[in-house]
Amino acid sequence: MFMGDQAEALRRMVNRKTRSKPRVIAVTSGKGGVGKTNVSVNLALKLVQSGYKVVLFDADLGLANVDIVLGLAPAFTLADVLKGNKSVEEIMIDGPLGLKVLPGGSGVYDLANLSQWRLQEFINALMVLERNFDFVIIDTGAGLHKTVLSFVLSVEEVLVVTTPEPTALTDAYGMIKVIKQQNPNTSVSIIANMVSSPSDGDGVARKLNLVLKQFMNCEVGYAGCVMLDDSVSRSVVEQSPFVLSYPSSLASRSIDKIAQYLLGETKRRNETGIRAFFNKMYSLLQK
Ligand SMILES: Nc1ncnc2c1ncn2[C@@H]1O[C@H](COP(=O)(O)OP(=O)(O)O)[C@@H](O)[C@H]1O
Ligand SMILES: [Mg+2]
Repeated sequence: MFMGDQAEALRRMVNRKTRSKPRVIAVTSGKGGVGKTNVSVNLALKLVQSGYKVVLFDADLGLANVDIVLGLAPAFTLADVLKGNKSVEEIMIDGPLGLKVLPGGSGVYDLANLSQWRLQEFINALMVLERNFDFVIIDTGAGLHKTVLSFVLSVEEVLVVTTPEPTALTDAYGMIKVIKQQNPNTSVSIIANMVSSPSDGDGVARKLNLVLKQFMNCEVGYAGCVMLDDSVSRSVVEQSPFVLSYPSSLASRSIDKIAQYLLGETKRRNETGIRAFFNKMYSLLQK
């Protein structure tokens, strides 16, 4: 009876531990216009459809457009938070299916150079907020700018979006290099967007990993590809995300696979976490 009670208490502790640490994932890129916002929005919605609580945070300070892709018209944005006029909770709005959105401050280039303490204060506010969610998806800006890197280097998981174009690949490499140099333990995975076939996407991951292995002695994960698909640009014009408007499109099915990849990662992580926890507990009980 004692062993049973103990096992139950352990299980509860493990579950609580798992629940209270959501995954904060930054979606970034080296080059602009490669599909970060579309990936972030549609991936966030896919995770909501899979039953997770998700907040999508538009952290592209220069070119915030999560709200546009979602067809939302927020009254307040991140700019209000960064100016100190509103709290993070006050700017949060409802997107489709119960997705929560933190709208970005569009065109606030002056804020792209905020002092470090404001950003840190903001990240702290976000960390309090994250307790209510399973996933915090952050759509960042592109390139190696200070504000972009502040977000990318503050999280444990990064998705780097690239297209097969050599310019995008080179810039993706530059971004990954900085992340790995500064934070070798960050989990980085690539998303190959606008590919003509899955093997085109495989090629993107292979090329990047070849160079990373040679010059950085590291490799990154491959979260999957998104096919070049007219429904993406159509959904942007219609301001309705393609996983909702065109659920059976190639792009939508691609996002589904990427969500499965991420959820597979959760499972592996939790298994390791739980196993590590039990092992530690076991050795302590034996002392
Ligand atoms: N898989 C795709 N297939 C076709 N067009 C795409 C795809 N992904 C992105 N696009 C096009 O590229 C544009 C830029 O994408 P966006 O997500 O805004 O990029 P970023 O956030 O990186 O600047 C979109 O408006 C869309 O027209
Ligand atoms: Mg964008």
